[in-house]
Amino acid sequence: ALRASFASKAQTQDRTIHYNLQPQASFRVAVLGAAGGIGQPLALLIKMSPLVSDLHLYDIANVKGVAADISHCNTPSQVRDFTGAAELANCLKGVDVVVIPAGVPRKPGMTRDDLFNINAGIVRDLVSAVADNCPGAFIHIISNPVNSTVPIAAEVLKQKGVYDPKKLFGVTTLDVVRANTFVAQRKNLKLIDVDVPVVGGHAGITILPLLSKTKPSASFTGEEIEELTVRIQNAGTEVVEAKAGAGSATLSMAYAAARFVESSLRALDGDGDVYECSFVQSDLTELPFFASRVKLGRKGVEALIPSDLQGLTEYEQKALEALKPELKASIEKGIAFAQKQT
Ligand code: NAI
Repeated sequence: ALRASFASKAQTQDRTIHYNLQPQASFRVAVLGAAGGIGQPLALLIKMSPLVSDLHLYDIANVKGVAADISHCNTPSQVRDFTGAAELANCLKGVDVVVIPAGVPRKPGMTRDDLFNINAGIVRDLVSAVADNCPGAFIHIISNPVNSTVPIAAEVLKQKGVYDPKKLFGVTTLDVVRANTFVAQRKNLKLIDVDVPVVGGHAGITILPLLSKTKPSASFTGEEIEELTVRIQNAGTEVVEAKAGAGSATLSMAYAAARFVESSLRALDGDGDVYECSFVQSDLTELPFFASRVKLGRKGVEALIPSDLQGLTEYEQKALEALKPELKASIEKGIAFAQKQT
């Protein structure tokens, strides 16, 4: 269930025919920030999903052309474009899943927290509109710093009286996608089989890959653990530096976000075997939000998987304790921002 099967499914002609013969589920998905570096390829990947009947693309500019372009793909969903705050409510009405990649990305030398000042307000305003127009939707937050923007979203939803912690997700799928790729390369494993849970948060040392829980089970030397952990934690910065000022990860992020959307839609459609890592409200640690594997169901998070945090190696246990102060501070910064506004 954890396999990144989305792209390969959509690629083959056989599968396309197969889809057309199956009874189609029909879910509505909105992407807020759809004209951006992530938004565009993400919209395209969601357009390829057989589970989507309506795809609503929203941005403050440049979304008309993106929607016109994507709408020509001969896959089932109807694509509509929405520009600017005046059209946001219509974009959101009746939507099942809202994905939010709106906001500014990092440039070299920046941390995700440096984005806080701009993105915090963007997320607050968009989630406020979600609360007013589709309060029952799954909300996928991509905008960084995720460690703070998810708590902001939770506060906004609470203020509006519609917070359902089971339906608010920080998208950390890219950390899992990267961990799977790097581990498979390093250990010469078949990529499709590899699954590494990544817990904690989504910035620097708060990203904690649990290599000891890799499936299929693999053994790592101390040196390999250190090298892989650091690479997974810094993979975003690797892309930021390679893009040299032109932004951060967009294509791999779109792939990861599309996988998380597809998993959510399968869960909404009644598939009882859907697991993903995500940054959610959690009681697995003393922190109010924590990324871990979650079981997804029709109502959102059906269960957290406590066993993932049991039997950790000494290295992982230390790293877990070391990440908590930073993660706690980021969560509190988000909550304080949202509470200051009221
Ligand atoms: P981008 O600058 O290419 O696109 C952002 C889009 O958001 C633009 O089209 C812009 O017009 C739009 N936007 C700005 N304000 C808006 C508003 N109020 N309402 C709706 N749309 C608005 O940036 P990119 O590369 O797509 O990144 C977007 C965000 O995703 C950044 O915050 C970045 O840090 C984050 N990110 C998160 C990752 C994760 O793993 N969760 C990975 C990579 C990026």
